[in-house]
Amino acid sequence: MAPNFQTDSAGPDIGPMTGSGTAPDIRKATAGDQPAIVALVRAERLNPNHLDWRNFIVATDEGGAIIGAAQIRPHRDGARELASLVVAPHWRGRGLAGRLVDVRLAEQGDNVCVVTGRQNVRHYARWGFRPISVRDAPTSVWRNCILGQIIGGAHAIVTRRPVNRLVVLSRKSNA
Ligand SMILES: CC(C)(COP(=O)(O)OP(=O)(O)OC[C@H]1O[C@@H](n2cnc3c(N)ncnc32)[C@H](O)[C@@H]1OP(=O)(O)O)[C@@H](O)C(=O)NCCC(=O)NCCS
Repeated sequence: MAPNFQTDSAGPDIGPMTGSGTAPDIRKATAGDQPAIVALVRAERLNPNHLDWRNFIVATDEGGAIIGAAQIRPHRDGARELASLVVAPHWRGRGLAGRLVDVRLAEQGDNVCVVTGRQNVRHYARWGFRPISVRDAPTSVWRNCILGQIIGGAHAIVTRRPVNRLVVLSRKSNA
Protein backbone atom coordinates (compact mmCIF):
# COMPACT_ATOMS: atom_id res chain seq x y z
CA MET A 1 0.00 0.00 0.00
CA ALA A 2 1.44 3.38 -0.96
CA PRO A 3 2.08 5.52 2.11
CA ASN A 4 0.35 8.85 2.41
CA PHE A 5 3.50 10.93 2.27
CA GLN A 6 3.36 14.68 2.66
CA THR A 7 6.11 16.69 1.04
CA ASP A 8 5.73 20.10 2.64
CA SER A 9 7.65 21.37 5.67
CA ALA A 10 9.71 19.11 7.90
CA GLY A 11 7.96 17.12 10.55
CA PRO A 12 4.51 16.20 9.23
CA ASP A 13 3.03 13.04 10.67
CA ILE A 14 2.35 10.70 7.78
CA GLY A 15 0.03 8.48 9.74
CA PRO A 16 0.29 5.28 11.71
CA MET A 17 1.62 2.04 10.31
CA THR A 18 -0.76 -0.81 9.95
CA GLY A 19 -0.18 -3.86 12.12
CA SER A 20 -0.88 -5.21 15.56
CA GLY A 21 -0.48 -3.27 18.77
CA THR A 22 0.35 0.40 18.90
CA ALA A 23 1.80 1.21 15.52
CA PRO A 24 4.70 3.65 15.25
CA ASP A 25 4.20 6.85 13.30
CA ILE A 26 6.53 7.76 10.45
CA ARG A 27 7.22 11.43 9.76
CA LYS A 28 9.82 13.74 8.30
CA ALA A 29 12.63 14.52 10.73
CA THR A 30 13.02 17.90 12.38
CA ALA A 31 16.16 19.64 13.67
CA GLY A 32 15.41 18.43 17.20
CA ASP A 33 15.66 14.82 16.00
CA GLN A 34 19.32 15.17 15.01
CA PRO A 35 20.89 13.79 18.25
CA ALA A 36 18.57 10.77 18.30
CA ILE A 37 19.25 10.02 14.62
CA VAL A 38 23.00 10.19 15.16
CA ALA A 39 22.76 7.97 18.26
CA LEU A 40 20.68 5.32 16.44
CA VAL A 41 22.98 5.21 13.42
CA ARG A 42 26.22 5.18 15.43
CA ALA A 43 24.94 2.44 17.74
CA GLU A 44 24.76 0.15 14.69
CA ARG A 45 28.15 1.24 13.29
CA LEU A 46 26.58 2.41 10.05
CA ASN A 47 28.31 5.16 8.05
CA PRO A 48 28.49 8.07 10.54
CA ASN A 49 29.05 10.72 7.84
CA HIS A 50 26.42 13.00 6.31
CA LEU A 51 23.74 12.48 8.93
CA ASP A 52 21.70 15.60 8.20
CA TRP A 53 18.18 15.51 9.65
CA ARG A 54 16.83 17.27 6.53
CA ASN A 55 17.34 14.07 4.55
CA PHE A 56 15.72 11.76 7.10
CA ILE A 57 12.37 10.32 7.98
CA VAL A 58 11.93 8.88 11.45
CA ALA A 59 9.61 6.42 13.16
CA THR A 60 8.38 7.27 16.64
CA ASP A 61 6.75 5.23 19.37
CA GLU A 62 3.69 6.17 21.40
CA GLY A 63 5.75 8.47 23.64
CA GLY A 64 7.40 10.21 20.70
CA ALA A 65 10.79 8.51 21.07
CA ILE A 66 12.63 7.88 17.83
CA ILE A 67 12.78 4.16 17.14
CA GLY A 68 13.74 4.09 13.47
CA ALA A 69 15.26 6.22 10.75
CA ALA A 70 16.22 6.23 7.08
CA GLN A 71 17.58 8.83 4.70
CA ILE A 72 18.23 9.51 1.07
CA ARG A 73 21.68 11.08 1.15
CA PRO A 74 22.24 13.52 -1.73
CA HIS A 75 25.80 13.66 -3.08
CA ARG A 76 27.62 16.53 -4.78
CA ASP A 77 27.85 14.58 -8.03
CA GLY A 78 24.07 14.26 -8.16
CA ALA A 79 23.91 10.69 -6.88
CA ARG A 80 21.36 9.82 -4.22
CA GLU A 81 21.86 7.03 -1.74
CA LEU A 82 19.27 5.31 0.42
CA ALA A 83 21.19 4.98 3.68
CA SER A 84 21.20 4.93 7.47
CA LEU A 85 18.31 2.46 7.66
CA VAL A 86 18.04 1.55 11.31
CA VAL A 87 15.35 0.27 13.67
CA ALA A 88 15.79 0.15 17.46
CA PRO A 89 16.46 -3.45 18.57
CA HIS A 90 13.22 -3.87 20.54
CA TRP A 91 11.13 -2.81 17.50
CA ARG A 92 12.71 -5.16 14.97
CA GLY A 93 10.89 -7.91 13.07
CA ARG A 94 7.60 -6.00 12.75
CA GLY A 95 8.02 -4.61 9.27
CA LEU A 96 9.18 -1.16 10.35
CA ALA A 97 12.30 -1.12 8.15
CA GLY A 98 10.17 -2.05 5.16
CA ARG A 99 7.76 0.79 5.91
CA LEU A 100 10.60 3.30 6.28
CA VAL A 101 11.97 2.29 2.87
CA ASP A 102 8.46 2.43 1.34
CA VAL A 103 7.97 5.96 2.60
CA ARG A 104 11.41 7.27 1.71
CA LEU A 105 11.23 5.87 -1.82
CA ALA A 106 7.65 7.03 -2.37
CA GLU A 107 8.82 10.62 -2.11
CA GLN A 108 12.08 10.46 -4.08
CA GLY A 109 12.66 6.90 -5.20
CA ASP A 110 14.07 7.19 -8.73
CA ASN A 111 17.76 6.77 -9.52
CA VAL A 112 18.76 5.80 -6.03
CA CYS A 113 21.68 3.61 -4.94
CA VAL A 114 22.25 1.58 -1.79
CA VAL A 115 25.54 0.37 -0.37
CA THR A 116 24.88 -2.71 1.70
CA GLY A 117 26.20 -6.10 2.71
CA ARG A 118 25.87 -8.85 0.12
CA GLN A 119 23.59 -10.78 2.47
CA ASN A 120 21.04 -7.92 2.33
CA VAL A 121 20.57 -7.85 -1.45
CA ARG A 122 17.37 -9.92 -1.31
CA HIS A 123 15.73 -7.44 1.08
CA TYR A 124 16.01 -4.65 -1.49
CA ALA A 125 14.84 -6.64 -4.52
CA ARG A 126 11.18 -5.91 -3.81
CA TRP A 127 11.79 -2.20 -4.45
CA GLY A 128 13.53 -2.94 -7.74
CA PHE A 129 17.10 -2.55 -6.48
CA ARG A 130 19.61 -4.63 -8.46
CA PRO A 131 23.33 -5.18 -7.88
CA ILE A 132 25.61 -3.21 -10.20
CA SER A 133 29.36 -3.24 -10.65
CA VAL A 134 31.04 -0.82 -8.28
CA ARG A 135 32.76 0.67 -11.36
CA ASP A 136 29.35 1.60 -12.79
CA ALA A 137 28.26 3.39 -9.59
CA PRO A 138 28.46 7.18 -9.26
CA THR A 139 31.85 8.25 -7.91
CA SER A 140 30.45 9.34 -4.52
CA VAL A 141 28.71 6.00 -3.99
CA TRP A 142 31.74 4.08 -5.22
CA ARG A 143 33.89 5.93 -2.67
CA ASN A 144 31.44 5.18 0.15
CA CYS A 145 31.46 1.52 -0.77
CA ILE A 146 35.26 1.23 -0.86
CA LEU A 147 35.65 3.24 2.36
CA GLY A 148 33.01 1.12 4.10
CA GLN A 149 34.74 -2.03 2.91
CA ILE A 150 38.09 -0.89 4.27
CA ILE A 151 36.72 0.29 7.64
CA GLY A 152 34.38 -2.68 8.01
CA GLY A 153 37.12 -5.08 6.98
CA ALA A 154 39.52 -3.67 9.56
CA HIS A 155 36.85 -3.87 12.25
CA ALA A 156 36.08 -7.47 11.29
CA ILE A 157 39.74 -8.42 11.60
CA VAL A 158 40.05 -6.74 15.01
CA THR A 159 36.85 -8.35 16.32
CA ARG A 160 37.63 -11.67 14.59
CA ARG A 161 34.35 -11.69 12.71
CA PRO A 162 33.70 -12.59 9.07
CA VAL A 163 34.24 -9.69 6.66
CA ASN A 164 30.94 -8.27 5.42
CA ARG A 165 31.30 -7.87 1.64
CA LEU A 166 29.65 -4.66 0.45
CA VAL A 167 27.79 -4.30 -2.83
CA VAL A 168 26.16 -1.39 -4.66
CA LEU A 169 22.50 -1.70 -5.62
CA SER A 170 20.77 0.61 -8.06
CA ARG A 171 17.11 1.46 -8.62
CA LYS A 172 16.58 3.24 -11.90
CA SER A 173 12.88 3.99 -11.89
CA ASN A 174 9.82 3.73 -9.69
CA ALA A 175 9.34 -0.03 -9.36
C1 LIG B 1 18.05 -4.19 9.19
C2 LIG B 1 16.98 -3.57 10.09
C3 LIG B 1 16.83 -2.10 9.72
C4 LIG B 1 15.68 -4.32 9.85
O1 LIG B 1 14.66 -3.71 10.64
P1 LIG B 1 13.27 -4.48 10.90
O2 LIG B 1 12.26 -3.43 11.24
O3 LIG B 1 13.44 -5.59 11.87
O4 LIG B 1 12.96 -5.10 9.47
P2 LIG B 1 11.58 -5.65 8.96
O5 LIG B 1 10.74 -6.04 10.15
O6 LIG B 1 11.00 -4.69 8.00
O7 LIG B 1 12.02 -6.93 8.17
C5 LIG B 1 12.20 -8.14 8.80
C6 LIG B 1 13.30 -8.94 8.18
O8 LIG B 1 13.96 -8.37 7.07
C7 LIG B 1 15.30 -8.01 7.41
N1 LIG B 1 15.54 -6.74 6.74
C8 LIG B 1 14.61 -5.90 6.27
N2 LIG B 1 15.16 -4.88 5.64
C9 LIG B 1 16.47 -5.07 5.70
C10 LIG B 1 17.58 -4.34 5.20
N3 LIG B 1 17.42 -3.22 4.52
N4 LIG B 1 18.79 -4.80 5.43
C11 LIG B 1 18.96 -5.94 6.12
N5 LIG B 1 17.96 -6.69 6.59
C12 LIG B 1 16.72 -6.25 6.39
C13 LIG B 1 15.29 -8.00 8.87
O9 LIG B 1 16.58 -8.21 9.44
C14 LIG B 1 14.39 -9.20 9.12
O10 LIG B 1 15.04 -10.40 8.72
P3 LIG B 1 14.54 -11.82 9.26
O11 LIG B 1 13.11 -11.94 8.83
O12 LIG B 1 15.44 -12.79 8.55
O13 LIG B 1 14.71 -11.79 10.73
C15 LIG B 1 17.35 -3.68 11.60
O14 LIG B 1 17.62 -5.03 11.90
C16 LIG B 1 18.54 -2.83 11.99
O15 LIG B 1 18.40 -1.66 12.35
N6 LIG B 1 19.77 -3.42 11.90
C17 LIG B 1 20.99 -2.70 12.22
C18 LIG B 1 21.33 -1.65 11.16
C19 LIG B 1 21.42 -2.25 9.76
O16 LIG B 1 22.00 -3.30 9.56
N7 LIG B 1 20.80 -1.53 8.79
C20 LIG B 1 20.72 -1.98 7.40
C21 LIG B 1 21.81 -1.40 6.63
S1 LIG B 1 21.67 -1.89 4.92
